[in-house]
Amino acid sequence: MASKSLLIVAVAVLFVAAPALAADLVVGDDKGWDLEVDYDEWVDGNQFIVGDRLVFKYTKGNHSVVEATAAGFAACSDANSLATWSSGDDQVPLSGSGQRWFFSGVGKDCVQGMRFNVTVLPVVKLSPSASPPPPPPSSAPSGGGVAPALAAAAVAAAALLF
Ligand SMILES: *[C@@H]1O[C@H](CO)[C@@H](O)[C@H](O)[C@H]1NC(C)=O
Ligand SMILES: *[C@@H]1O[C@H](CO)[C@@H](O)[C@H](O)[C@H]1NC(C)=O
Repeated sequence: MASKSLLIVAVAVLFVAAPALAADLVVGDDKGWDLEVDYDEWVDGNQFIVGDRLVFKYTKGNHSVVEATAAGFAACSDANSLATWSSGDDQVPLSGSGQRWFFSGVGKDCVQGMRFNVTVLPVVKLSPSASPPPPPPSSAPSGGGVAPALAAAAVAAAALLF
């Protein structure tokens, strides 16, 4: 029992301390940016975190990518669009948290379903400020810190796994 909870703690430490890995999310997966895909379903199956990128893949000229406001999105209107991409391999960084709206600005693509919105989640950070450790004596050449703690956690996890 004790060893199991220790393992959980060790693994949790590793996950929390690991830097967030930004992901490239190919919109529509293998099918890309296309009329055949249900993008609401695609959105439901993914998580969007600050630092990730959306990648829209399509035949240049057949579709486009318009970023719009909620109102523009609802109306399939690019009159007040925020940005437009049309290379066929468009990379859209998700650099802030919050909701963003996209659709294809070509022909009837948008009303035929080539649109979706995503909610971009903030990166979860360690918050050492929650319980700040006392500052070390100024001269301490101590080997303490995050790296040794991580190494200890990794060893503990490894010992319990193998
Ligand atoms: C792109 O559009 C052209 C012209 O309408 C069409 O012939 C072609 O099949 C389209 N390509 C794809 C991949 O949908
Ligand atoms: C975002 O997309 C969902 C799923 O299509 C839709 O129900 C919702 O109305 C959209 N939200 C906004 C604010 O456009």
